[in-house]
Amino acid sequence: MASAQLLLLVPLLLVTSCVVMASDPSPLQDFCVAYANSTVKVNGVVCKDPKLATADDFFFSGLNKAGNTSGPVGSRVTAVNVVQIPGLNTLGISLARVDYAPWGINPPHTHPRATEILTVLEGTLLVGFVTSNTDNRLFTKVLYKGDVFVFPVGLIHFQQNIGYGPAVALAALSSQNPGVITIANAVFGSNPDIPANILAKAFQVEEATITKIQSKF
Ligand SMILES: *[C@@H]1O[C@H](CO)[C@@H](O)[C@H](O)[C@H]1NC(C)=O
Ligand SMILES: *[C@@H]1O[C@H](CO)[C@@H](O)[C@H](O)[C@H]1NC(C)=O
Repeated sequence: MASAQLLLLVPLLLVTSCVVMASDPSPLQDFCVAYANSTVKVNGVVCKDPKLATADDFFFSGLNKAGNTSGPVGSRVTAVNVVQIPGLNTLGISLARVDYAPWGINPPHTHPRATEILTVLEGTLLVGFVTSNTDNRLFTKVLYKGDVFVFPVGLIHFQQNIGYGPAVALAALSSQNPGVITIANAVFGSNPDIPANILAKAFQVEEATITKIQSKF
């Protein structure tokens, strides 16, 4: 290969390896069961002695139970991540069950650390995500039982039950701790409030409209 081509290839390889490192770090041992009581802070959770690990460290029960969807948005997320299963520590994966009341929504939100792949188990969902500011393009689709849809890492996405019965979905996420930022809660329900004049300018509305929305969070 000509050296000029090699020079082009090296930065390309570096970019590719950075993309791979954007997910949770790879484990350096068979497992690292989270030792929740440790006062030592690391990126992830400290491992407990592997000799003390048991099958229950890798186990969760209860995802057959529907979440309570009677709140204002009409959905409930039951998360199964490293908090519920300490054995997920360092493994870069987690799950969530999402229940939706008829016409309920899982409001626009983003997972800062994970791509999500969602499977509809029951009902019909309208789902969507929006790309970043390059074009803020909206991708939407109606999903039926058995359909699968992907929400790329970091992008704002939502689901709505567009049926008259309950809907259920199972989401897999590419992090032990995906994190969730619900846009309305973060912007209008921060603690303390973001000054209303800032949000009024950002959303191009009167301050009274902002304080009215803030009062709901
Ligand atoms: C963590 O601490 C709590 C309360 O002190 C205790 O009940 C629990 O057994 C501890 N967990 C471990 C894994 O040591
Ligand atoms: C469901 O949540 C509502 C509040 O949103 C509460 O009033 C109700 O008791 C809960 N129902 C059950 C069965 O937990």
